[in-house]
Amino acid sequence: MRVMVIGGDGYCGWPTALRLARLGHHVSIVDNFSRRRIGQALGVESLVPISSLDERLQAWHELGGTPITSHEIDVAESFESICSLIEDIRPDALVHFGEQRSVPYSMESSSGGLFTVRNNLMATTNLLEALVQTQTDAHIIHLGSIGVYGYETLGYEIPEGYQRIRRVDPSGELGPEHESLHPFNPVSKYHLTKAMDHLGLAYYAAKHGVRATDLCQGTVWGAETEETRRDPRLANRFDYDPTFGTVLNRFALQAALGKPISVYGTGEQTRAFIHIEDVLGCIVGALASPPKRDDHRVQVVNQIAECMRINDLANLFADRSDSEVVRIASPRSEPDENDLAARNHGVKAFGVDPVLVSPAKIDTLIEFARGYADLADPRNLYPTEAPKNLEPVT
Ligand SMILES: NC(=O)c1ccc[n+]([C@@H]2O[C@H](COP(=O)([O-])OP(=O)(O)OC[C@H]3O[C@@H](n4cnc5c(N)ncnc54)[C@H](O)[C@@H]3O)[C@@H](O)[C@H]2O)c1
Repeated sequence: MRVMVIGGDGYCGWPTALRLARLGHHVSIVDNFSRRRIGQALGVESLVPISSLDERLQAWHELGGTPITSHEIDVAESFESICSLIEDIRPDALVHFGEQRSVPYSMESSSGGLFTVRNNLMATTNLLEALVQTQTDAHIIHLGSIGVYGYETLGYEIPEGYQRIRRVDPSGELGPEHESLHPFNPVSKYHLTKAMDHLGLAYYAAKHGVRATDLCQGTVWGAETEETRRDPRLANRFDYDPTFGTVLNRFALQAALGKPISVYGTGEQTRAFIHIEDVLGCIVGALASPPKRDDHRVQVVNQIAECMRINDLANLFADRSDSEVVRIASPRSEPDENDLAARNHGVKAFGVDPVLVSPAKIDTLIEFARGYADLADPRNLYPTEAPKNLEPVT
């Protein structure tokens, strides 16, 4: 297949591009390197040094990998450039990772929030519209978020895809049945963009017959994949800072350094997780399972392996290291506690039997982080105000 990987220089996109090339697909990476620039502006670096995209591709080439091409395009800004690239490549599929993905970045300032909304919404809309404009029948696979449904306790498993619903009228009578996507309840501007993307995909599927899949992904953890291990120049990024670090990777570095494992707020928040290898497995599965041409609906998959409470996760890391768990004021405005359950039948239908968090996996992650511990910047381990509030949990 000819596959365009949008955001193919990022944490999920880069190992995906390598996996797809290894499987023999013709891969074209599109990225505008905004993630690298935002990191530089904030003074936060990946723990693992990462090569430039050109160096990465050169290394892949030297190792005999199927060639991958790269194109520097801002997909949120350059509609014409996307259209001409799509016309040149005639892709069978687009895998769309190309968004601003930090929740705190979207919450902490108006400029960060507005950039996130502009970038993410226009990126997705431009890609969808470009498929229409160029009359390209490609399957678009978008990386969404399981957080679009909010972090209130719902009391049931979040389903995947369209639901049959009936309205209860004021007298308690049930109205006629119709089909609807599950309601959204975004808690950040980042999640707002993912909810709007989801609707955009549904709209273009219904009105223009675009074959679209939205992977409502949980927090990704893990460092290496089979391909990134092959050469240091192929290494993937590993973020631990309060803006871009995902919670397991951050806990792993804190544990590797023997520093406090920082739980935000009560730690009674429940979140969904998936390992980076399983992200790749799901993308491969999604590419093989596009929606039917006459379906006119977005295919929705909850791309998660499991849901876990943050306190339970933190305790696992504390048990496997010399670190203690501390609670710090949450830099995020989210509910203090919630239960979360979501169906993940789609992941299994993609043929993925997902890895679960386990003591052995945590040992491996801590060991990995320990290998780079001397490169960690202690100023980026906790949110700025945090050191004052580092109180061990009793
Ligand atoms: N990492 C996670 O835990 C996680 C969880 C749920 C969903 N997701 C989603 O998965 C996708 C990938 O996440 P990630 O962790 O790899 O993020 P990332 O920031 O590492 O990678 C995103 C890539 O997209 C590029 N990009 C952003 N805007 C672009 C634009 N306008 N034009 C071209 N390129 C652009 C960036 O430069 C970066 O290389 C995102 O959409 C994110 O919201 C990630």
